[in-house]
Amino acid sequence: MVTEVSKLLELQRLKQKLKLVILIVCLRWAYEQGVCVVVKSFNNGRMKENLEIFNWTLSEEESRMISEIPQSRGCRGEDYISEKGPIKTIEELWDGEI
Ligand SMILES: NC(=O)c1ccc[n+]([C@@H]2O[C@H](COP(=O)([O-])OP(=O)(O)OC[C@H]3O[C@@H](n4cnc5c(N)ncnc54)[C@H](OP(=O)(O)O)[C@@H]3O)[C@@H](O)[C@H]2O)c1
Repeated sequence: MVTEVSKLLELQRLKQKLKLVILIVCLRWAYEQGVCVVVKSFNNGRMKENLEIFNWTLSEEESRMISEIPQSRGCRGEDYISEKGPIKTIEELWDGEI
């Protein structure tokens, strides 16, 4: 029983580690694309984790693989367009990139 519990705990730790690795890889990839990454956290430990993107780089192959993952905008920016404002259409807002 104790062995089973410690195995489960070990799996849980591994799962947390994998989640962190995925998070750091995603942040690093965005940073390498020249994107201004704004990561917000009120948690000291997570603030430190989020800084772990600066002392390593993705290989060209790794970067290419991530770039091939289909992407979509989380926010299309509909709230920022208006017939009466300077930006009238979604296409105009994104300079044709959508
Ligand atoms: N989203 C927008 O449209 C927008 C627009 C203008 C400005 N901003 C600014 O940009 C910043 C980020 O905005 P957001 O919308 O991306 O923030 P958010 O979704 O409100 O907050 C980020 C979330 O990620 C969590 N997090 C951070 N680091 C993590 C880690 N290593 N592991 C797991 N969870 C983690 C944070 O939790 P904990 O705090 O518990 O760590 C928080 O719940 C903010 O300062 C915001 O004011 C956002």
